[in-house]
Amino acid sequence: MKPYSLQIFYVVILTLAGILLELLLPTLMASIVDIGIVNGDIPYIIKIGAWMILCALAAVGLTVGVSFFASKVAQGFGRDVRKTLFVHVENFSLQAFDKIGPASLITRSTNDVKQVQDVLNMILRMMTRAPLMLIGGIILAVSREPGLSVIFLGALPLLAILIFIISRKAIPLFVSLQKKTDKLNLLVRESLIGVRVVRAFNRVQAEKKRFNTANEDFRDTGIKVNKLMASLFPIMMIVMNFTSIAIVWLGAIRIDQGHMQVGNLMAFLQYAMMILMSLIMLSMGLIMIPRAQASVKRINEVLSMHQEIKDPDNPKVVKNGKGLVEFQNVSFRYEGAEKPVLQHISFRAEPGKTTAIIGSTGAGKSTLLKLIPRLYDVEDGNIRIDGIDVRDMTQKQIRDRIGYVPQKASLFSGTIAENLNYGKKDANEEEMKEALEIAQATDFVMKKDEGVHTFIEQAGANLSGGQKQRLSIARALIRKPNIYLFDDSFSALDYKTDAALRKALHAVTSDATIILVAQRVSTVVDADQIIVLNEGKIAGIGTHKELLANNAIYQEIVSSQHAEEAGA
Ligand code: GTP
Ligand code: MG
Repeated sequence: MKPYSLQIFYVVILTLAGILLELLLPTLMASIVDIGIVNGDIPYIIKIGAWMILCALAAVGLTVGVSFFASKVAQGFGRDVRKTLFVHVENFSLQAFDKIGPASLITRSTNDVKQVQDVLNMILRMMTRAPLMLIGGIILAVSREPGLSVIFLGALPLLAILIFIISRKAIPLFVSLQKKTDKLNLLVRESLIGVRVVRAFNRVQAEKKRFNTANEDFRDTGIKVNKLMASLFPIMMIVMNFTSIAIVWLGAIRIDQGHMQVGNLMAFLQYAMMILMSLIMLSMGLIMIPRAQASVKRINEVLSMHQEIKDPDNPKVVKNGKGLVEFQNVSFRYEGAEKPVLQHISFRAEPGKTTAIIGSTGAGKSTLLKLIPRLYDVEDGNIRIDGIDVRDMTQKQIRDRIGYVPQKASLFSGTIAENLNYGKKDANEEEMKEALEIAQATDFVMKKDEGVHTFIEQAGANLSGGQKQRLSIARALIRKPNIYLFDDSFSALDYKTDAALRKALHAVTSDATIILVAQRVSTVVDADQIIVLNEGKIAGIGTHKELLANNAIYQEIVSSQHAEEAGA
């Protein structure tokens, strides 16, 4: 809020000025009645009346000003929090990212920020106004008619007690309403993302039911809250009206006795209403705050997650490195997992050579690749690139040298060219064509009317699995890195394309270190070394021939695939 101190100051000053003007109105009216009307002084009535109009207009102007600055502060604050959240989340380690989950992160940086922003706006407008009005009203009312003020001794505590009872009930409901909004968001998002699965498995009815339950739960709580809040007003009105009756009654007696004038009574009545109104405003505000508090807590939870992967203070710089990757006794486990996913992994992947990793599903192949660009930090041992521990380099330096093709091709909404630019910012059309050519993507890209300027929908929804994979390969190739990491990137390609791609790749990546994960033996046969990964441990390293001769697990993989092919 600090950057907005000046605007907040304006809000307070303008509110104060506006309230002074509003507080003046009943006093002016009292003069009209007690002096103007009593003496039949028409020019005086017109003069004071004009002043009243002027005050009222000025108060309106000031209120507009208050709203203007309050909105500026609240909206600006909301923008700042969203920005901070976004930047923070972008820098999260993946471990932290997995902990909260993308769905909740989205709700927190949109819906929750909006809640806080709205309440902030309300606090700025009402919560500065109400206390000032309350104090001003009491001072003016009491100084004008101390005798009548005893009525407040009855009315104010009564109102306070009623407000207390209602807010005691409403606050927990508001908090639970917020939680239920969350649940609703989660359900909607989940079933939208999984819409194809939901339909394919005939789960539409079940999803509807799941949604309806949450939706109705939300409605019921909403109705409860609204009933309570709706009862607030009639109760307040009863208190206010009885207070009015008491004031008029007592006032009439005092006027009859000659202790008081009619105008004074009218002014007092108005001050009394201002006091009670401001008390109501104050209580509404106090009820809203806990609602925002739930959101604040959720936002702070994200902000307080620290970035676990940090650049070193004195990063080492690699000069003329070729991209030698070494694993030395590396072990790793995912946050909260009991068992390590990888244990005591040691190997060297040399420049100009292809290292293939093969192993059954869940063996830890993808995890191993993710450790190289330091998407996660190792638990034990170390990973070196050109002899330097990856933790001693900046993340930018490591990743600039790596072309990573993840197992699940993830593309971004935008043109094909824009997606390739993720690989290299300033790639020209020539480079793009070359990369697409090697990735065996030229055919389908050029078939499109707009070529590389064809638009890709969110997550590549308008592309086939194989097309996405080829584009994601092209994205890695275009940066011409020292180290290529292919995570099962050829799985969606047919045997012929797979072979053609590897051949083209070989020609352009002859100096680079290639580490590829594969399921198919045919993809790995010509690799310089094959690592057989089994339950997170290395079961053997060697060439196809060597492993075929002496590695039981490799033999098993090979024979099972032969059987499969023969069967097909
Ligand atoms: P395939 O791609 O199916 O061939 O398997 P893989 O060898 O690539 O396995 P991967 O490295 O993805 O996973 C190895 C193990 O780690 C599995 O048992 C997973 O359950 C676990 N695992 C993978 N990703 C995560 C993650 O983000 N969090 C946690 N807690 N566990 C994970
Ligand atoms: Mg994998």
